Amino acid sequence: MKKPQLAAVILAAGSGTRMNSAIPKVMQPLAGWPMVRHVLESVKPLGPAFSIAVVGRGMEEVARVLAPLECVVQDPPLGTGDALRQVERPLASRLAPHGEIEEVLVLYGDAPLVETRSLERLLAERRRAPAAAIAVAAMRPEDPRPYGRLVLAADGSLERIVEARDADGREDAIGLVNGGVMAVAAPPLFSLLEALDRDNAKGEFYLTDIVRVARRQGLMCRALELPVAELLGVNTRAELAAAEAVMQARLRRRAMEGGATLLAPETVFLAADTVLGRDAVVEPNVVFGLGVRVGEGARIHSFSCLAGAVIGEGAKVGPFARLRGGVVLEEKAEIGNFVEVKAARIGKGAKAKHLSYLGDSEVGERANIGAGTITCNYDGFEKHKTVIGERAFIGSNTALVAPVTIGAGAYVAAGSTLTEDVAPDALAVARGRQVEKPGRAAAIRARRGRKG
Ligand code: UD1
Ligand code: MG
Repeated sequence: MKKPQLAAVILAAGSGTRMNSAIPKVMQPLAGWPMVRHVLESVKPLGPAFSIAVVGRGMEEVARVLAPLECVVQDPPLGTGDALRQVERPLASRLAPHGEIEEVLVLYGDAPLVETRSLERLLAERRRAPAAAIAVAAMRPEDPRPYGRLVLAADGSLERIVEARDADGREDAIGLVNGGVMAVAAPPLFSLLEALDRDNAKGEFYLTDIVRVARRQGLMCRALELPVAELLGVNTRAELAAAEAVMQARLRRRAMEGGATLLAPETVFLAADTVLGRDAVVEPNVVFGLGVRVGEGARIHSFSCLAGAVIGEGAKVGPFARLRGGVVLEEKAEIGNFVEVKAARIGKGAKAKHLSYLGDSEVGERANIGAGTITCNYDGFEKHKTVIGERAFIGSNTALVAPVTIGAGAYVAAGSTLTEDVAPDALAVARGRQVEKPGRAAAIRARRGRKG
């Protein structure tokens, strides 16, 4: 049977008062991505014929994160039902019976943990004969208090949703709640929304009231229970932390299924897009920011912090290393303890093993960067580049004042401050000569009256 065409709507216009933040709630990061991006990513594999988001006034950032997804603005935000009404103009003409879209999946931007497989199950549940007008994702969380309660009819179908603030004593005791995802048959959607009112504790148009309206019209509604870990709503900082924990557990599990070793998984923090190659090893207490790809067999030692880095096969990073964006470590390169690397390519087998800063740099294959080497890439106005040729040897405690190029195979004496280029295979010494005065120390002590 051909699957009915789908539209997806993400509601993301709420102000998120409970978060007490200067940024819109759906922009709060979860594993490095704004929450709402996770929702979008879980919807994509369903291949909706049309997708749209509802954002609030001044939420250009949200629209940017979702681009090229179309966005409409809800202003003022008068509740989730009112939010969905905002898509009537772009969507109505596409809906069956006139258009090709036969069902609409409504998701909340603040329920970011839902997985594609569960969305598919929810859609299938609505279509299951006899098809229901609405299928609601349900869950039984430990603490149902913040959620809308699902009131079931004697036959197990869904009778109505009662919002937390409007629940009476009996309804309060219900453990089955609204997880915030709804599949709705397209034809009746906007007429159901039309019938909503604001006669409730919050004075808002509740999307959840469409269940009651549908039942009144003799339409069938159903609830499908899904894992709590996929439906947690994020309204507060505490809920954000709980969602992060769930997401991290999921990302760690996936990384290990992909063949990476995490020695103490619970101490490794991954980003939504972290890719760990087979047999990569991540030691305890490593934090990944966005944009990191770790090659096969590479090892990330403890207490390292990585973002925006492509790490080659068999490379080593840390302990206590910081890769801070625009970094490429080629095969078997080594970045050791207390080394910071930014916007730099470190060639195959090259090493910077201790106490260095390499910024805006190119380091050739098998070059050796001694302890304490610093690229002075910023002159207070602009950034400049340092190029180190292959097999070059940079002595410890060298300052490379960029722009500067060290030729292939050149040696730089320890403690040099280099302001000029060094030719290939040359030795550069750029420091004061050592001067020794025999017996002078003892003479000083004698003069100052100190014995021995
Ligand atoms: C909502 C549900 C509740 C459910 C819970 C699941 C309603 C009335 N209640 O409650 O049954 O258990 O989610 O997490 O729907 N939004 C808009 N415009 C608005 C208001 C909200 O776009 O005018 C967006 C928000 O950005 C958010 C989503 O809709 O992403 C849900 O709104 P929120 O205020 O968080 O509803 P909850 O109180 O969590
Ligand atoms: Mg919410």
